[in-house]
This record gives sequence, structure tokens and C-alpha cells, in this order.
Amino acid sequence: MNSSRDWPEPIVRVQSLSESEIPVIPDRYIKPPSDRPSYNSDIVDAGDDDNDNIPIIDLQGLNGDDETLRATILTQISEACKHWGFFQVLNHGVSTQLLDRAQDVWREFFHLPMEIKQAFANSPKTYEGYGSRLGVQKGAILDWSDYYFLHYLPLSLKDYNKWPCLPDYCRDVIDEYGKELVKLCGRIMKLLSINLGLAEDVLQNAFGGENIGACLRVNFYPKCPQPELALGLSSHSDPGGMTLLLPDAQVPGLQVRKDNKWITVKPARHAFIVNIGDQIQVLSNAIYKSVEHRVIVNSTKERVSLAFFYNPKSDIPIEPVKELVAPEKPALYQPMTFDEYRLFIRLRGPCGKSQVESLKSP
Ligand code: OGA
Ligand code: NI
Repeated sequence: MNSSRDWPEPIVRVQSLSESEIPVIPDRYIKPPSDRPSYNSDIVDAGDDDNDNIPIIDLQGLNGDDETLRATILTQISEACKHWGFFQVLNHGVSTQLLDRAQDVWREFFHLPMEIKQAFANSPKTYEGYGSRLGVQKGAILDWSDYYFLHYLPLSLKDYNKWPCLPDYCRDVIDEYGKELVKLCGRIMKLLSINLGLAEDVLQNAFGGENIGACLRVNFYPKCPQPELALGLSSHSDPGGMTLLLPDAQVPGLQVRKDNKWITVKPARHAFIVNIGDQIQVLSNAIYKSVEHRVIVNSTKERVSLAFFYNPKSDIPIEPVKELVAPEKPALYQPMTFDEYRLFIRLRGPCGKSQVESLKSP
């Protein structure tokens, strides 16, 4: 049984295309001019100016007893959530060795022989496994990347058979990584809740308390002979609750939309990039917004990134929390479960912010 049969067209691994050293990319990876990386001349590369990079926030002081420092950090997070939807965190409590091991193990996975990776080929039914497209629309223009997608939580969806088994220690590393990131997300959820003027557990409870979902998407962006015509990942906002991205330490590529410009994120060493997803935009009644982002590719270096998605329990309706709704601030969104919500991106692929916009109350 070939699971790739469920895709509308035969799956082509971008890594294989890249390794074939073709000088031009196939038409189905060529974006229309307005989506190409160079279209908007306002592209800003992260430089020394603070406004040219997403905020970098040191969480160290959250554990001590300096209340002023704690308040300053909370304010930094609040400003970043309101004005950027993105920030980097330093001293987040996850060991740097674990970050390096997680990056290494996935890089090794993508360099295994193709037959081994193919054994994990995914289908659009669950997306779990080794994949090369998002969305099932026939004839769609595709992104220049392959990926691996797996579930950590709920435990009913965690299935080691759908995780890679090579390199042989990888399951332990992936497990440990998930455990630590769930903890860190729980901490950040409390900070967001407090910053919204809510009791610290309100957001987490709205997510279903302990019954949250957590999954990992590891992105592999091969070298691209015509990077000016393609995107590694098209513009989108993350459909889930919150994302912790471990970017490639060597190769930039992530761009965040800010005031209609694309800012290329300059990753800080061993930092996580945190971003607000659509579900927190809905719960916060748009006080926090999920921000569009995309990935550019280049002709000389491949890139690996680990996107960890922290999501609400998938069958509870998500709507603005009642404390944030008032006659003068009516609920902006209609309730929808995350199960229903994520069908959209799974069918149509990444499409900017069109989905969360479609939830707007009439
Ligand atoms: C994602 C994502 C960014 C990156 O996987 O949703 O936005 O830098 N990834 O790979
Ligand atoms: Ni994303």
C-alpha cells in the first residue's frame, strides 16, 4: 500500500531535486512575482538596529526574587506579543546540549538514504511522517522543503511507530526534547495569561488544562538553484496555540511580517523563537495577534529548523475568553474546535492569515 497515493500528485522529494543539481527549478516551485522574496524592496535584513530584529528577551530573572526585574521581563513579553507576535527567549531553562542534540539528530535523519526515509512517507490523512507538501490542491505551487511531522501529546496520538527509528538514539532525544518544551510552553502560557490581566492558569485551562496537544514539525530546506523564484515555506500564521522554533544556528531564513515589511530574523545562539498562533489570537480577542511569517532559501546552504506546536485540546471550542469580552469589546470570533480549524491548512496549505480572518463574527 503506497500512502503517497492519497496526495493529488506523485510526491517529489525536494532534497532529491536539489541533489540532482538541476540548474533551474521545476515550474511548480516558481512563485508568482508578488510572492517572490525580492518582490518587496522593503525587505529588511536583521541588523544592529533593534527594529530590524524581533525582540530578544532574557528569562533568567523570572526565577529570582528581584520583583522589579520580573516586572520588566513581563513588560518586554507583553510589548513583544502586542507589537511583533514574535520574540526570542534566552535562558529558557532547556539545556543547550539538548538543543544541539535535537538539531544534530534531525540533520542526521535527513541525510539518511532515501529508502529509509521513504518508509516513513506521510499521507494527508494525519500528516504524520516524512512529507514534502502541505495542502492537497492539485496543481498547487509548492514550497522548497521537506519535513517530518509527529505528535507528542495527547498520549493517545503519540505513536513511536510513526517516529523515525534512526539514528538509533533519536527517539530518546525527541522524547526528552518534547518533555522539556511542554514544560517551557506551560511557563510561557502563564506569563501571557498574567500579561492579559487574567489569573495565571486561565489560558492553559482554555486550552484544556493538561489535555493539550503538542507536535513537532522538523523542516528541511535543501539548497535551491534559484532562490529568488521560490520560498522554503509560504507566508502563513501558525494555526495552533503557540510555537517554539529552534532555528538553524548557521543559516538564517525565517522572515516575519512587520508593518508590511519582511524582517529576516537573526537567531540568537541557543534561543527559542516564540510566536503566537491563531488560537491565542482568538482566545485573547485579538489583543495578541498571530503574525505572518515565511522562509526564504538560498543556493549554498541547506537549513534545518524544529517547530514545536503547543495546541489546545483538539475537540473543545475555542473562543475569546469571557474576561476579555465586554459590551464595548465584543467577541471578534466565533467558536471553533482546533480539529475543525486545522483542516483548512491541511487542505489548502499555507495561505497568509486568511483562515483566522474567516472566523470573524458577522
Ligand atoms: C513553521 C515555520 C519557520 C522556519 O514550521 O510553521 O514557520 O524557520 N517554520 O522553519
Ligand atoms: Ni510557522
